[in-house]
Amino acid sequence: MGRKRVAVLISGRGSNMAALIEAAKDTRYPAAIALVVSNKADAAGLAVARAAGIRTEVIDPAVFGKDRAAFDAALQGVLVEHRIEIVCLAGFMRLLTPGFVDQWRNRMLNIHPALLPAFKGLDTHKRALAAGAKIHGATVHFVVAEMDAGPIVMQGAVAVQDDDTETTLSSRVLKVEHKIYPLALRLLSEGRIRVEHGRCLIDGVAVPDTAQLVPLV
Ligand code: GRF
Repeated sequence: MGRKRVAVLISGRGSNMAALIEAAKDTRYPAAIALVVSNKADAAGLAVARAAGIRTEVIDPAVFGKDRAAFDAALQGVLVEHRIEIVCLAGFMRLLTPGFVDQWRNRMLNIHPALLPAFKGLDTHKRALAAGAKIHGATVHFVVAEMDAGPIVMQGAVAVQDDDTETTLSSRVLKVEHKIYPLALRLLSEGRIRVEHGRCLIDGVAVPDTAQLVPLV
């Protein structure tokens, strides 16, 4: 079986995209990043992708006005043209139509900078700090029509420090994102994830039974 052909969808800096590209440089990695798509022509990540020799496409939403289905149809066209098998959303700041999402059910991942189902939506680090959360983190999940919902594949946690700011906390969480996204894509590409009743069951992984306590007393 060949490597899975993956498209990464971005709108901005693309550091998670870069982490996936880096992981996929290893020919033993079960996925190849075949395409990067952006809805923004000036997304910084596009230059990073091109420098890595990866094909890029920009789909400008302005062309489609308010017609979300038309944008998504154009996106689907590009994915089919490149024979894409798995889609990874990585800071892709656009809601996708239920029709499009259905076509990629259990084949489309997203990364969210919080421990879902806590802190869906934007400004997750600010909200985690305001809530006084002691443990925060990031989640890779399958995409469903509802935003930041969908079966959870993997999570990574960080302890929140008393003197954390949005900047310091987000940079520690981002490091976790860059670890878990390539690992989650590996699991999906190897066909090791089963979705049952909205939960992911994963073959051949260890789950630690140690608790993480914050603060340590
Ligand atoms: C990340 O924090 C990701 O979790 C969120 O958007 C941000 C994208 O950052 N969905 P980058 O473009 O991958 O650097």
